[in-house]
Amino acid sequence: MGILDKHKIIETNATLLLVFSFLVVTIGGLVQIVPLFYLENTIEEVDGMRPYTPLELTGRDVYVREGCYVCHSQMIRPMRDEVERYGHYSLAAESMYDHPFQWGSKRTGPDLARVGGRYSDDWHVDHLRDPQSVVPESVMPKYGHLEATLIDGEHIGDLLSTNAFVGVPYTDEMIETAQLDFRAQADPDSDFDGLLERYGEGVIVRNFDGRPGVSEADALIAYLQMLGTLVDFSTFTPDASR
Ligand code: HEC
Repeated sequence: MGILDKHKIIETNATLLLVFSFLVVTIGGLVQIVPLFYLENTIEEVDGMRPYTPLELTGRDVYVREGCYVCHSQMIRPMRDEVERYGHYSLAAESMYDHPFQWGSKRTGPDLARVGGRYSDDWHVDHLRDPQSVVPESVMPKYGHLEATLIDGEHIGDLLSTNAFVGVPYTDEMIETAQLDFRAQADPDSDFDGLLERYGEGVIVRNFDGRPGVSEADALIAYLQMLGTLVDFSTFTPDASR
């Protein structure tokens, strides 16, 4: 009996076909799933990643609230055109503290995963206030109300706690000093040593919107200026052992 004839027995017997299909799916599933139970973490750790500062985290909240993700993704795919345009492809670790993550493929505007440091703060202020004033053909809406809305950071500790609850490694100290750190990052005349101690020397301390008080624009621009800058890709080498 040839192999095709043997196969015919299975194909013409529904019960047998079901049993064998179930067997194949089970083995396939186990091969994929079981190794995951033996890994501490499925995300490769990368130097430089840190939880967002209170100001950046607030900016991220503004970003999500305003629906910026409707037009912007934060995920550079490993294809040549994307890498040439936006920079190194996104690593899983780069969104490990994102709740919710900002991946996606809907790009009415450009990907923002590495927009940090690409423009000045002034450019961002002008662009948010009136995108067409800096990019005449832009279809991006105006967000001038953000610089007019001040935030006192009263609930920022709660925001950090909530993120800690879902796994972001915020310490009790970070949660306690959240409001202080929040204000310090937007005020270069303040005492921001504690902020840098807790979140790293690389944290950008500036009056992002150039106006007194901490506004939603300050928070959003602090967040945008940090995006994609945490990992140093001049020294990054993928871990080939995984
Ligand atoms: C209706 C779609 C739309 C929405 C919503 C939108 N944008 Fe945009 N955005 C665009 C388009 C189109 C561009 C490209 C033209 C330009 O620079 O204005 C752009 C450009 C940008 C750029 C410059 C990117 C680069 O690499 O040049 C930034 C930064 C940006 N948007 C931030 C935001 C933020 C923050 C929000 C939410 C507050 C937002 N956008 C909401 C469509 C949108």
